[in-house]
Amino acid sequence: MKHIIRRYTDLTRANHWFVAGLFICAGLSGLAIFHPALFFFSNLFGGGQWTRILHPFFGLLMVFGFALLFIQFWHENLWKPIDTQWVRKAPDLIIKGDEDAMPPVGKYNAGQKGVFWLFTICLLLLLVTGFMFWRPWFVDYFPITLRRIAVLVHSLSAIALILGVITHVYAAIWVKGSVHAMMRGTVTYNWARKHHLLWYREIVAEESAAERRMKG
Ligand code: HEM
Repeated sequence: MKHIIRRYTDLTRANHWFVAGLFICAGLSGLAIFHPALFFFSNLFGGGQWTRILHPFFGLLMVFGFALLFIQFWHENLWKPIDTQWVRKAPDLIIKGDEDAMPPVGKYNAGQKGVFWLFTICLLLLLVTGFMFWRPWFVDYFPITLRRIAVLVHSLSAIALILGVITHVYAAIWVKGSVHAMMRGTVTYNWARKHHLLWYREIVAEESAAERRMKG
């Protein structure tokens, strides 16, 4: 019997790290133009002018990359009744670290699903509002009051996205084996059984069905 399960394909992992890299570029270039105290980040992008020019393109590429992830993952992140039970039990997990008390979950738990939808909403808002004050091309199409609201919503969405990514990275490090899944594509049977029991059962059932078909 094999001891590893494929959780992510090569293409999906490349797609994920492309988005993560662009998040860092869009985030740091955005922070550089957000506040003078953070302007020093512009040194990473060739100075203030280049930072301003490049930031919207980093953002567009990040949204494009995320859209490809979204197509692959939205279905597995749909909310189910078990997720509400998971959220009710979450304080036990966070405070006592008692994972065994949690209800069994599929490929993603409710925390991961919440972060996924937070990413989706933030990136949509960043995309729409970003166009509204992108100089010199689109800015003339929108009245000044609307542009001011757009700047505010853009900044708030960026802060929410950054906090979401911090949570995402913290959880990835906390659940040992997750980073390996996104680096190498595989997890052990034990990891799957411990953290995603319903997904593990699905995989085992699929494998048994495939074996039965092979035997005729
Ligand atoms: C910057 C450092 C990042 C690290 C270390 C990281 C790490 C990980 C890991 C380990 C997983 C696999 C979790 C599992 O299989 O249980 C994962 C999944 C995922 N990551 Fe990241 N990630 C990062 C940034 C991002 C960013 C910036 C985004 C998007 C804005 C993102 C979106 C996703 C998505 C959509 C998944 C699939 C899981 C789901 O649908 O909930 N990641 N990440």
